[in-house]
Amino acid sequence: MKIPWCSQYIPHKPFRSQLEFLLLPHLDALFGGAAGGGKSDVLLMAALQYADIPGYSALILRRTLVELKQNEALLDRASQWLRGIPTAHYAADEHTYYFDTTWPDGSPGPYAKLQFGYLGDYRVEERYQGAEFQFAAIDEAGHFENDQAPRYLFSRLRKKVCPIHKLKKDPVSGENIPNYVDRCKTCQLYKGIPIRFRMSCNPGGPGHLWIKNRYQIEKELYDYTDPATQNVTKRIRWVGKNPNKPFVPSSLRDNEYIDQRSYRQSLQELDEVRRLQLEHGDWDASPDSRFRIQDARFYKSKGEFFVINGEGIHFQDLKKIFMTADSAATVKEGMIDQSTSKNAPSETVYSVWGLTHDYKLLWLYMASMRAEIPECIKVLVQIYKVWKPQYVKMETNGLGIGPAQLAANYGLNVVNNPKSKDKLQNSINAQLRMRNHRIYLPEEAPWLKKAMDQVFTWTGHPGMADDIVDTLSDACNDVTWEGQGYDPLFKNGSVLASSLDRYIPQTFNMPLGYQKSFQPDNPFLF
Ligand SMILES: Nc1ncnc2c1ncn2[C@@H]1O[C@H](COP(=O)(O)OP(=O)(O)O)[C@@H](O)[C@H]1O
Ligand SMILES: [Mg+2]
Repeated sequence: MKIPWCSQYIPHKPFRSQLEFLLLPHLDALFGGAAGGGKSDVLLMAALQYADIPGYSALILRRTLVELKQNEALLDRASQWLRGIPTAHYAADEHTYYFDTTWPDGSPGPYAKLQFGYLGDYRVEERYQGAEFQFAAIDEAGHFENDQAPRYLFSRLRKKVCPIHKLKKDPVSGENIPNYVDRCKTCQLYKGIPIRFRMSCNPGGPGHLWIKNRYQIEKELYDYTDPATQNVTKRIRWVGKNPNKPFVPSSLRDNEYIDQRSYRQSLQELDEVRRLQLEHGDWDASPDSRFRIQDARFYKSKGEFFVINGEGIHFQDLKKIFMTADSAATVKEGMIDQSTSKNAPSETVYSVWGLTHDYKLLWLYMASMRAEIPECIKVLVQIYKVWKPQYVKMETNGLGIGPAQLAANYGLNVVNNPKSKDKLQNSINAQLRMRNHRIYLPEEAPWLKKAMDQVFTWTGHPGMADDIVDTLSDACNDVTWEGQGYDPLFKNGSVLASSLDRYIPQTFNMPLGYQKSFQPDNPFLF
């Protein structure tokens, strides 16, 4: 197979995993894994592949300007590659290279261009509105809190259109598509340029979860035969299971051009989790998360008992059962077309909690949904009927007042949840409680994976999805108040009585009153 290759602009010869990535015909693909695995290099190669085609347009985006400009980063490397080549011209104020081109008949064509960009504090729409690319790439996509920028850039990809034969209407879809004509050399040239969206990343960072989900990256065990001893052992590798969006993993070992030993030595300086992550890639846990997966504790449900370390706790012996709710304002909140913020689209989340007499917090149930408020409240009522919590904590100021009032009208015991707007600050009790191994998750609940995925990859970046984490934070803040100094976490009196005032619940509807012994219809609704 022959791939188009502008050898005058690409001084490097791709190694095996890079070549595999460059040959992919797919619209969307990810190159990932270890640091030093040739990610930035391969994106630059891919962008330059068609840099001799008239009017070709490529973009490589990074999260911040600093990342773009660092030594050895993209701009630096492009300048090493392209400096002194007479047909490549750099416009420093635009961070853009322009390349001379010629039409198939030999006459001069419009410039091809490769633009380097960063998002900074801008919204992606502000920067790239109206832009059209045949190639758009994001280097180190893990630095992006959510997938808004990638989704927008993806929507800016267009096939090149011949200036003579222009567009035609597709008879089936009615959309305008390029009118490629067989005998026209320009049409044939443009027909041959694929449109491509490419990303590179490393596990970790605020983007860990959306990238893992987008490319459906999963763990796979395989038999590894030691070449020296012929012993066979099981090893882990990460594979992308999305048939439309391939993932090409790469490791330091693939890159024969780098001094692997000194690179590995520099990695030894880092802490263990981070080092393994950088060297081998690990998609299960994020080292940057505020909650460490090793700190999670688990319980089993057996009949009417919750079993912790072999000891059964009957559900009636729980000190209390309560709920926390995080309501999304509307279904469309955070959607790309009308967003006013850079937040991930949010979901409505309901969590049910149980507190044991020694203040272990059990996560009993979680439901998440993207639906309009009345639909969500119906689900809330269902959950409430099943678990019969003492109360459900909901925000009753700002946008939260609507759902809270609706829930109260249904007869639920709604308690105000006064919380800090700062999610990170709101989560401090939860972080502390997790670190002290006092949060227990159900081993077999179907919703557990979704909850754990968010909690153990959440870094606290404001743009990340945090609805599930929020219900956890609210629950921990609630039981901290409940402890009032008895909570073993706070036995040294680290919670001042005055600071407890703000936690006093403001009940504005209490039809069910306090239930001393509650009888859930089916408390084990996993
Ligand atoms: N195919 C290649 N040929 C020559 N050098 C390469 C090749 N791929 C990567 N390198 C070099 O290896 C080093 C690490 O690659 P880089 O792309 O920066 O990795 P990453 O972005 O994954 O950290 C860089 O100095 C880069 O120029
Ligand atoms: Mg890089």
